[in-house]
Amino acid sequence: MSKERVVVGVSGASGAALALRVIERLAEIPSVETHLIVSDSGRRTLLHEVGPHALHQLLAIADRSYQVGDIGAATASGSFRTAGMIVVPCSMRTLAAIAAGLADNLIVRAADVHLKERRKLVLMTRETPLHLGHLRNMTALTEMGAIVMPPVPAFYHRPQSVEEIIDHLAARAIDLIGLPVASLATEWDPQALAQNAVARTRGSA
Ligand SMILES: Cc1cc2nc3c(=O)[nH]c(=O)nc-3n(C[C@H](O)[C@H](O)[C@H](O)COP(=O)(O)O)c2cc1C
Repeated sequence: MSKERVVVGVSGASGAALALRVIERLAEIPSVETHLIVSDSGRRTLLHEVGPHALHQLLAIADRSYQVGDIGAATASGSFRTAGMIVVPCSMRTLAAIAAGLADNLIVRAADVHLKERRKLVLMTRETPLHLGHLRNMTALTEMGAIVMPPVPAFYHRPQSVEEIIDHLAARAIDLIGLPVASLATEWDPQALAQNAVARTRGSA
């Protein structure tokens, strides 16, 4: 059985830990094959925010990885069939380049291919606050069919740690690709959440 290929682009925005979690969660799905591209700034944020082993960890988990400058790699072509692509985190530079069709590196080219082939493209854009240019690029990409998903935490599942927040965001992003697997993210279930809240209150009493 051929696997579902998912391309993961890591650019130089804050939130490098999200990239690691997305790759880890994708690796847990046996039917999925991951194709990783990390920008030069992405390497820097991984080092700065996660640590010296982060890049090696990512590369070790991914099924295949590519140099960001390798514009002739498989993921640069529309003939390379994929289930979708997640750019995590997505810098405002990469966002702008994708919006403008400036496919001068492999992350932007692969994203461009996903748009032209009408495939799923999830952009975990990270910057705050946003100026009008950022917002216009997000609007343009939404109009082109991309899904703009800033990593804004949810609190309904009552996260107890940063790891839980990261895990939930990674699961939501993967869910957006629409792989034929059960949802990874905790669903909104008021009854279950209320019971959890009661259990936690009792636990802390
Ligand atoms: C530690 C660090 C954090 C950064 N955080 C962000 C960010 O949250 N959002 C953003 O758009 N750029 C951020 N930048 C700037 C980008 O890395 C820079 O614009 C870079 O050119 C992006 O290149 P890339 O899109 O090819 O990865 C950050 C840079 C560093 C060093």
